[in-house]
Amino acid sequence: MVTKTLRLFSRVNLGDRFRLRNHRMSLHTKILKVDKNSIEFHDGKELPTINDDETMRNLNEAVKVILETDNVVGFPTETVYGLGGSALRDESVKSIYRAKNRPADNPLIVHVSSIAQLERKLLPEGYKISEAYRGLIQKFWPGPLTILLPVHEKSPLSKFVTANQNTFAVRIPCHPVARALIALSDEPLAAPSANASTRPSPTLASHVYNDLKGKIPLILDGGPCGVGVESTVVDGIVSPPMLLRPGGISLEELKEVGGAKWRDIVVAKKTAGKNEAVKTPGMKYKHYSPSAKVVLFNNCEDGISAINDYITKNHITSENIALLRSRKFPEASLINTSIKLDLELGSSGQDISRNLFLGLRRADEEGIDYIFVEGIDETNEGLAVMNRLTKASLEVIDGSK
Ligand code: TXA
Ligand code: MG
Repeated sequence: MVTKTLRLFSRVNLGDRFRLRNHRMSLHTKILKVDKNSIEFHDGKELPTINDDETMRNLNEAVKVILETDNVVGFPTETVYGLGGSALRDESVKSIYRAKNRPADNPLIVHVSSIAQLERKLLPEGYKISEAYRGLIQKFWPGPLTILLPVHEKSPLSKFVTANQNTFAVRIPCHPVARALIALSDEPLAAPSANASTRPSPTLASHVYNDLKGKIPLILDGGPCGVGVESTVVDGIVSPPMLLRPGGISLEELKEVGGAKWRDIVVAKKTAGKNEAVKTPGMKYKHYSPSAKVVLFNNCEDGISAINDYITKNHITSENIALLRSRKFPEASLINTSIKLDLELGSSGQDISRNLFLGLRRADEEGIDYIFVEGIDETNEGLAVMNRLTKASLEVIDGSK
């Protein structure tokens, strides 16, 4: 049996970009390159300078789709690829839900390019963003932090963005392509992760293409996403504040930077029942699932005996097994010869976050049946990683029990 060992740092070939003919509503999905290094934002100016013609042209094409049609576009952010449409028009927002096959009661994050744009486009005149957010906004915007704000009586947001919540979620992405797209269109963008509902979030343009080809006209390819997990979602309107979804900004950072109030922050439960009323509707749904069965090995030291026990007890005969390892698990050949794909996620929290969804998707591309994944401790980036892994896995083996 040959074991493949891969480091997850290379780009995946985008493959054929062909038109799907098997569906009446099928669109031709174009992938257009953009160079994030050609885009620069300057203090006090809402519009960036862009010194690459191809990038400018392709951004403008995406702007046209957003402003002149009801279609939506895939675009890179620093966290994961987003699926963006005007947050102000019902038809665009409906297109987002339709393309992803997303449940209608799961609200979307609104993306703006600056605080000035947020105030000008979405907040009532003279409205002051809650003081509670001041420290966090100063430090983490633009960046992977999403905050909740109250929906104002005359809010121009499409009601489908908020899914009947009395708050809306908003962030300023720091990826130059995302920010430029929003600034050039001067339109707040509703943008969930650009995966088909329940699938792992996309961190490459090819992931978006694989999930949404034929359903959207355009994907801007700005290369791999740096953070790799989604933004942190916080509610600072309530007291004590709540961490609704761990993500690119850690709980430790929120406590350190947010001010006194944030030291008492409450962490929301990871999952919820179908009929349970929850603050973050996303908690109810199946998430981040590749086609393979994911088994999470938590607190299992080097994993060798836990994995071998699991294979024996469950009479697993398949050799189509992938190992996703990070800090303690040794290379696959030392664990069990039946492991086909050995994926090393890295050992720092940043590397593990960046490579997590890439690894889950990679295993699917290889037609793997089982993904055995090493759990890590829940400090710093570990909280977001373990949140995604717990949701992705069908079974958790806890070595401490
Ligand atoms: O990094 C990210 O946040 C990415 C990129 C594209 O920006 N977007 C993203 O969106 O992850 P999505 O739709 O996959 O996740 C949005 C999360 C969901 O868990 C949703 O329930 C929650 O934010 N959410 C949105 N609006 C909310 C609200 N008003 N109240 C509570 N939770 C909300
Ligand atoms: Mg998502």
